Amino acid sequence: MFETFPLWPQRASSMAGNVDALFIFLLALCGFMCIAIFIMILVFAARYRRTKGREAEQIEGSNALELTWTGVPLLIFLGIFVWGAVIYFMERTPPDDSAEIYTVAKQWMWKFQHLEGQREINELHVPVGRDVKMIMTSQDVIHSFYVPAFRIKQDVLPGRYTVTWFRATKAGTYHLFCAEYCGTAHSGMIGEVVVMEPAQYEQWLSGGPAAPLAETGKQLFMSLGCSTCHRFDTQGRGPNLVGIYGKPAELEDGRTVIADDNYIRESILNPHAKIVAGFKPIMPVFQGLVSEEQLNALLAYIKSLSQPPQGTAGTRNTPSTSPSGQQQMIQVQ
Ligand code: CUA
Repeated sequence: MFETFPLWPQRASSMAGNVDALFIFLLALCGFMCIAIFIMILVFAARYRRTKGREAEQIEGSNALELTWTGVPLLIFLGIFVWGAVIYFMERTPPDDSAEIYTVAKQWMWKFQHLEGQREINELHVPVGRDVKMIMTSQDVIHSFYVPAFRIKQDVLPGRYTVTWFRATKAGTYHLFCAEYCGTAHSGMIGEVVVMEPAQYEQWLSGGPAAPLAETGKQLFMSLGCSTCHRFDTQGRGPNLVGIYGKPAELEDGRTVIADDNYIRESILNPHAKIVAGFKPIMPVFQGLVSEEQLNALLAYIKSLSQPPQGTAGTRNTPSTSPSGQQQMIQVQ
C-alpha cells in the first residue's frame, strides 16, 4: 500500500524512526485537538442555543479549570520540547568512530571525497550499518544537504565546515537534494545516495586507482612548502602538527581554542587570525591559493597525524618549546 500511496519517504537510517515517531505524535496531537474543538463547537452550539424564557448563566471563573488548562498543555509542550531536543542532539553529534566523507557543494553539484581516495559527483556510495560523518563546505553560496530517507538536512555554508551524520540501515538508492535555494539550477542540484552491503562496498572502494585522501594531502603539504616550517620536531618556525587535532591550542593572545576542522581551515586560509603561543605570524595566507578539495586533503592529512598508528608514539617522544605544545603533550599522554 505504501508504494502506491507513500505517506512517508522510506526509512533508511537509524534516525528515521525517531524523527517519524515525533512527527506522528505531533500530527496525532494536532489532529485530536482539531477534531475535539470542532466537535465541541457543534455540541455547544446546539446545546446552549438561545431558547425563549431561558436566561444565560454567568460563570465567574474556576481556579481548578484554569490550572488544568494551563498545566496540561504546559506539560505536553515541555514533553515535546525535550523529545525534540533529544533527537536534535542525537542528529548533531556524530559518533566518535564515524567514517568521514568530505563534501564540497557548488552551483550546482555535490562533490564527495572519500578518505580512501575515491571521488564522486552527485553520487555517494556508503555501506550499510556504518556511522558516516559528512564534513561539508560550499565553494560559492549556501546549499543544504538533504536526504529524506535518512531524515537529515544540514545547511552547507561557504567559508566553514558544517557536519551531519547518519547510519544507513537498508541497502538501496535514495534521493539527495539541495534544500536551500541556490540559484538558477537549484532544482537540478540533486543526486543519489547508494547504500551498499559492506562486502559490495569494499568491492566498490577497491575499484579505482585512487590514492588515500591523506596521502594527497601529504603531497600538497610538501609541494606548498608547509613542511619546511611545520616540521616534526621542535626546530620548525611553525607548530609541529603531530597530535594537535582535537586538542586545545593556546594562542598568543591568551585564548585557548580547540584545534578542530574549522580552526585548521582558518589557520591555513588566514593563518594570522589565531597565532599559536610561542610562534610568529610569518605564515603566508593561502586564501584563494588552495581549492576546497585541496583543503580537505590537507585537513585529512593533518588529522591523520593525530591518529594512533603514527600519532601517539611520535608525539610522546617529541619535546616542544611552545606552551601549546606542552599542553598537547599532556593531553596525548
Ligand atoms: Cu544548492 Cu540549492
